[in-house]
Amino acid sequence: MGLKKNQQLSKLIRPEVQKMSAYHVPEATGLVKLDAMENPFPWPDEMKAQWLKLLSKAEPNRYPDPSSKELVSSLRECFDVAPELGVVLGNGSDELIQLILMAMNDDACVMAPTPSFVMYQHIANSLGLSFIGVPLNTNFSLDVPEMLSVIREKNPAVIFLAYPNNPTANLFDDADLLAILEASNGLVVVDEAYQPFARKTFLDRAQDYEQLLVMRTVSKLGLAGLRLGFLVGHSNLTTQFEKIRLPYNINVFTQITATFAFQHISTFDKQAAMICEQRDILLNSLSSLKGVNVFPSDANFVLFSLQSDSAERVFEALKQAGVLIKKMGNVPGLPAECLRVTVGSSTENKLFVKQITSIIK
Ligand SMILES: Cc1ncc(COP(=O)(O)O)c(C=O)c1O
Repeated sequence: MGLKKNQQLSKLIRPEVQKMSAYHVPEATGLVKLDAMENPFPWPDEMKAQWLKLLSKAEPNRYPDPSSKELVSSLRECFDVAPELGVVLGNGSDELIQLILMAMNDDACVMAPTPSFVMYQHIANSLGLSFIGVPLNTNFSLDVPEMLSVIREKNPAVIFLAYPNNPTANLFDDADLLAILEASNGLVVVDEAYQPFARKTFLDRAQDYEQLLVMRTVSKLGLAGLRLGFLVGHSNLTTQFEKIRLPYNINVFTQITATFAFQHISTFDKQAAMICEQRDILLNSLSSLKGVNVFPSDANFVLFSLQSDSAERVFEALKQAGVLIKKMGNVPGLPAECLRVTVGSSTENKLFVKQITSIIK
C-alpha cells in the first residue's frame, strides 16, 4: 500500500486509539505459568467424563441461545441472586467493563483507584472517555477523602473498585466502599474477580443500592478458558446494558460447560480452599527470604517487592529457569521492584520458591 493511502487510512482511526498499545500477553509455552491468576487444578476424572458426554450433544452448527437461559438460571441458583435483580453475561468480565462504558455519554468520566486492574483505564481510553486514577494510600487502602473530592468535583459516571484489588491483592475496607457508594451519583462497579479466595461480597447489598453493580468472573475460579463474566444489579440498569450486548456473546460450549460447572460448584469451592492453603504456605516461604517484602493477600496471587535486586533481572532469571510470573517493576503507586506471582499447585509453588531463592541477591 502506498504511503499516502496508508496515512489517509490511519486518519480514520480515533487519535486516542492510535496512542494506545495492545494488551500484551507473554508467550508461556513450556513454562510453569504463574502469571495470570489461573487455577492450577484439573477436574476429577468422573466429572470430566460427565462433562464430555454433555459436550458431545452440543450443536456447534446452531447459534447459541442468545439469552443463555439455562446458564443464567443455574448461575442465579448457585450464587443466590435475588429474582428482582438483573444479570448480564459477558465474554469475560473484560467485555462487561466495555459494555458498561460503551453505554455512557461521551463526556462521562471514569474513576478507579490506582494501581488497579489495567482494563478499566485501557477500555475507557479506547472509548475516548476520560479516566481519573486516584492513588491508593501506601498501605494500599483507598484514599477516601480524595475519592470523595473527585466525586464532588468531577461527578464520575462510573467508579470501578476491585474487591480484592489487582495487583495489590488486598480487600478494601467495607466502610470505605460504602462511603464511596453512598456519595456517588454515578455507577459503582464492585469487581469481585477474586471473590472465591476472599469469600467476602457486596452481592447481598445489590438490592439496597440502585447505583451498585457487582461483577464476577469464572476465570479465577478455574474456568479462564470459557471467557464468562457476569454483572448483577438493578434491572433498570441491566436492561440498558442488555440492549448493547451482542446477541451471541456466550458460545455454545461455554453455556454448556458453565451450567455444568455451577451444578458442581463444590468441586471449585474445594479447589479455591486448596489455593488459599497454598497461598498461606507461599506467603510464609516468600516472607522468610532475605531481601523480600511480601504484602498480605486476600486473592490467589501474591505481590512482593525486592529490597536490593531488580524485578526485571529476577523476572528474566526465573523465566530462564522455566517459571513465568508477572513483572510489576514500574507500576506507578507500587513500591519499587515489585513482582506478582499467582498461587499454583504445591509442586509449582515449591519450584518457584526454590528457583527464586537461588536467584535473588
Ligand atoms: C480485578 C479484575 N477484574 C477482571 C478481570 C478480568 O477477568 P476476565 O477473565 O473475566 O475478563 C481481572 C483479570 O485479571 C481482574 O484482575
